[in-house]
Amino acid sequence: MSIEQLAETAQAMVAAGKGIIAIDESNATIAKRFAGVGVENSEENRRAYREMLLTTPKLGDYISGAILYDETLRQSTKAGVPFTKVMMDNGIIPGIKVDKGTFPLAGFQGEVVTEGLDGLRARLEEYYKLGARFAKWRAVINIGDDIPSGTCIEANAHALARYAALCQEQGIVPMVEPEVLMDGDHDIQTCYEVTEVTLRSLFDALYNQNVMLEGTILKASMIVPGKDSGEDVTVEDVAENTLMCLKTAVPAILPGIVFLSGGQSDEAATAHLDAMNRMGPNPWPLSFSYGRAMQSAALKIWSQDIVNNVRKAQETVYARARDNGLAALGQWKS
Ligand code: 13P
Repeated sequence: MSIEQLAETAQAMVAAGKGIIAIDESNATIAKRFAGVGVENSEENRRAYREMLLTTPKLGDYISGAILYDETLRQSTKAGVPFTKVMMDNGIIPGIKVDKGTFPLAGFQGEVVTEGLDGLRARLEEYYKLGARFAKWRAVINIGDDIPSGTCIEANAHALARYAALCQEQGIVPMVEPEVLMDGDHDIQTCYEVTEVTLRSLFDALYNQNVMLEGTILKASMIVPGKDSGEDVTVEDVAENTLMCLKTAVPAILPGIVFLSGGQSDEAATAHLDAMNRMGPNPWPLSFSYGRAMQSAALKIWSQDIVNNVRKAQETVYARARDNGLAALGQWKS
């Protein structure tokens, strides 16, 4: 696979005014989301929910790609049209989550490492045949007393880089996601420092594994104070700190950066992205790859009547896509 093709896909993922919808919850994670709104976690309900999301009329106006879970990549609409076809017909690139989740890092209390490298080459080969053109691997960095350790950051960066190299070998654009969690009572400065070290370690590892940055997308967490810190920060504080941290640690050759929402409110996730783009020009397109901040309002509506509320839920999906698409241009009006 040529670097030109990877670069083309990566650029399409961050096309002006477009971003990614993350609907790659594992069956265990979607079980939690469904439980929160009283929906049974059956395969058919998962399929129907993802059909509602993916068949949102004109979703491709603001959405360049969607990250799916293994089960969803193989599913079809009730009428029998594969989800991947529905997506491609709307100009939405199919993506696939390929990590196997986080596991305790042996010897390091309170820290986790993401697994999933074993057999990854063969899985990527199959995912490409099924239509996936980008992938996602999420590493999780916890902030707490004496953590994260350098060992944890390095282990996760190494795994991300091994994954990214395998993706590129198979013609799939790697989205590398080192998420620094919002959980905890740390201040915004601590989040900044941990994120900077994490990003530096990640880009070192990508370099060491011969990963071509032109065909790579970073999925970043924003620089925010811990959820339980009580620290009051403005939208501008978050935007300025996040931009400064990224400019310090991320090479300018990267085709784009997308953000996760990480538990921020829908409004905050959009406002922060909008503010960063208003502060531009920036070295890279900055867009979104939101899961909860794209879906939570729609899930609530859909769950109230999963047969008759499809249209109403889709209107909300479209509205969230439009707001975030405008924020990716710095043109959102709250
Ligand atoms: P959130 O936007 O809900 O954080 O999810 C994005 C994602 O894909 C995390 O891996």
